[in-house]
Amino acid sequence: MNLGMIGLGTVGSSVFKRIEESKEEMQRLLKARLDVVCILVKDRDKGRKGKGELLTTTDWELFSEACTYDVVFEAMNGVDPAYTYTKALLTRGTAVVTANKKLVSEHGEELEELAQMHGTYYSYDACVAGAIPIVSALKSTLATTDVARISGILNGSTNYMLTEMTEHGRSYSEVLKEAQQLGYAEEDPTADVSGYDAWYKIRILSKLAFGSWPQEEAIGRTGLESLHHWQVQIAREHGFSMKLVAEAECDTNGKPVGRVGVALVHRSHPFYSVSGVTNGVLVEGEDIGELLFTGPGAGGAATANSVVEDFVLHERASYLRRSPRATPWSEREAKQQYAVFSSREDVSAVKHSLGERGITIHVARSYEEGALFVIEAERTSHLPYPLYRIYGEFEKQMEHTH
Ligand code: NAP
Ligand code: HSE
Repeated sequence: MNLGMIGLGTVGSSVFKRIEESKEEMQRLLKARLDVVCILVKDRDKGRKGKGELLTTTDWELFSEACTYDVVFEAMNGVDPAYTYTKALLTRGTAVVTANKKLVSEHGEELEELAQMHGTYYSYDACVAGAIPIVSALKSTLATTDVARISGILNGSTNYMLTEMTEHGRSYSEVLKEAQQLGYAEEDPTADVSGYDAWYKIRILSKLAFGSWPQEEAIGRTGLESLHHWQVQIAREHGFSMKLVAEAECDTNGKPVGRVGVALVHRSHPFYSVSGVTNGVLVEGEDIGELLFTGPGAGGAATANSVVEDFVLHERASYLRRSPRATPWSEREAKQQYAVFSSREDVSAVKHSLGERGITIHVARSYEEGALFVIEAERTSHLPYPLYRIYGEFEKQMEHTH
């Protein structure tokens, strides 16, 4: 089999290494000889070391004409020109295995259809939750399972940052820099801290769990922008950890809806112990109860493992195509608890504004830096403050003041 690669950065170089290391076993399983023929990169003068360097080119024409590829592993940043290259490859009947979640989130539907039309596959297990084979599980072993909700800590960088800030009192800028150095963060880390990276991933999971791509506006998104250190510390004092959580479920019309945002996760909830670069994905349904998947969510080796296993799985067996059965939430579950933080100067204004909207404050506590209000709101309600969804019950932890 002729293998091609696009990208030889954190993920690409680990994919190359993983193929070299497990070549013999893969060849035995696939009953074929495997050769990486050519690698497309942006800059040949990067001073890369290793065998992969000898196979690099910056010329797309040269890359695409080097041979007839059986599969190309795509691990570059952003939509263009990855989209153009992927379309050209799939049109020729070449399978593409990608780690590029932004591209899949924006054009996955079209690219999957194109692959089918040309008798090949477009596969993206490595796009979501690093080493966790959640995409493959939803496509194959959970193919006919009724899923009511799917949620997760899907961004390794921010989970690493929040863990370091909470447990070791480190600063935001210091831990962001470290996440970049460790190869966890995106080329532009704004995608991580603004919640976009998790947003791309929950879109992909929604499609797999509920059978259709969510409308852009159906998944709300906030990131770490409004988070302050004192809020993290106060949450911790009450047995909560602050984490960027993404979740999606089916509305009563059968359409996926959801959100990405910082949440207060109580220590009784399975996400509480998902720390550092680890990701966690919770799949809920009537028959399955709660299925929790955890594992390394970012980094070269973890992602490369998913890329390679995704390829091997596709080559060894044809997938059961997922025929999702999605159940909307019951009325009983329609309300959720949220925390609202207010700075010291704004305490009475926030209180007043919540009251004006007819929102009951279940718990209110004052702190040196400001106040914390726990409210119950419909999922759709809009407030002019960041809402931190609460996982686990707050009221059991704190006395009622209202
Ligand atoms: P990276 O280290 O920045 O590597 C990107 C690679 O793409 C580089 O080798 C770069 O070439 C190449 N490239 C960029 N623009 C190109 C162009 N126009 N033509 C040809 N090659 C081009 O990024 P990464 O961390 O490996 O991430 C790659 C992809 O995987 C991204 O889509 C990311 O979202 C996704 N991903 C990353 C992780 C992770 O933990 N890092 C995990 C899952 C998914 P040069 O080397 O010459 O600059
Ligand atoms: N930047 C991403 C993260 C890489 O931190 O989760 C893995 O998709």
